[in-house]
Amino acid sequence: MGEVKNDITINVTDQSGQVHILECPLDMGLTLKDICKAYELPMEAMCGGMAMCATCHCYILSDTSALPEKSDVEYALLSEVFNEKSNSRLACQMPLSAFMDGMHIEIAP
Ligand code: FES
Repeated sequence: MGEVKNDITINVTDQSGQVHILECPLDMGLTLKDICKAYELPMEAMCGGMAMCATCHCYILSDTSALPEKSDVEYALLSEVFNEKSNSRLACQMPLSAFMDGMHIEIAP
């Protein structure tokens, strides 16, 4: 039986261009927003992950084909932000998963 990985690594570029390497546990039910906050990265996430504020907006710089699709709520909220791109996501709507190992994201300005 293959070994099940309990931790993944995610690379995050902040608004000043600095890259942070985050070690992320998979067994705690965290989202991408939670782990950015845990590392005290400059992500506001004002609504606390309720999909209401879009201040957890980020861009996925690596291949996104393995990621879950946006929900209707995420889609609707992102369509209202001024700097939306095709690779925009809301970090609070992305539960950490093994698919994300090695992923590179950028926190939106
Ligand atoms: S934290 Fe508010 S929408 Fe993600």
